[in-house]
Amino acid sequence: MAGRGLLLASLVLSCFLLPCYGTGLFSSLQRTLEVTASPTSGQALRAGVDKITVTWGLNQTLPAGTDSTYKAIKVKLCYAPISQVDRAWRKTEDHLNKDRTCQFKIVARPYNSANKTAQSLEWTVEPDVPTATYFIRAYAFNAEEKEVAYGQTTDAHKTTNLFQIEAISGRHTTMDICSICFSAFSVVSLFGFFYNEKRKAKGSR
Ligand SMILES: *[C@@H]1O[C@H](CO)[C@@H](O)[C@H](O)[C@H]1NC(C)=O
Ligand SMILES: *[C@@H]1O[C@H](CO)[C@@H](O)[C@H](O)[C@H]1NC(C)=O
Repeated sequence: MAGRGLLLASLVLSCFLLPCYGTGLFSSLQRTLEVTASPTSGQALRAGVDKITVTWGLNQTLPAGTDSTYKAIKVKLCYAPISQVDRAWRKTEDHLNKDRTCQFKIVARPYNSANKTAQSLEWTVEPDVPTATYFIRAYAFNAEEKEVAYGQTTDAHKTTNLFQIEAISGRHTTMDICSICFSAFSVVSLFGFFYNEKRKAKGSR
């Protein structure tokens, strides 16, 4: 019993000491994917309302077979460096599994290297996306689910084709009011229920 506890504790501990995350480095990835998105440079989109059309595929100028190891694609919404000034945690981390600049998953799909048609998707900006400047990046994964390549809508220095997303203003206020209304409603209906039960009990006596 104690032995098992110790084993569990050391397993948990080793997760902190050793990297439990993969070892993929962004700097080791090849930029072979071509990714485009509908927002124009500087366009402001509203979270929870506006849509983005994303298109991705292998850069067609590369030799055939470049993508022979690609098995899946993940498309993500990423913070652009403008917000690094006040939010250091948005800085790109070379260890891919620790990187928090691309937090919002748009889609994950299997990759078919035989299909040369660029894939595309229309995505409504999720309501919880905070106000900031963004771009879109796609990662290609191999059979071991390790990142092997990428592509993005901006240049290597993340300075071109950036767009804005504006969070829904007053969203929290609305949600708070809703939850107050809801709890008031629950209390009232609870009292109503007990009152009713009491009356029924009286009536049956
Ligand atoms: C596609 O590949 C060519 C040749 O490597 C490169 O010059 C070009 O910039 C690439 N296009 C994109 C969008 O990455
Ligand atoms: C290739 O991809 C396109 C776009 O997603 C799709 O419409 C088409 O059916 C695919 N073709 C094959 C042979 O899988």
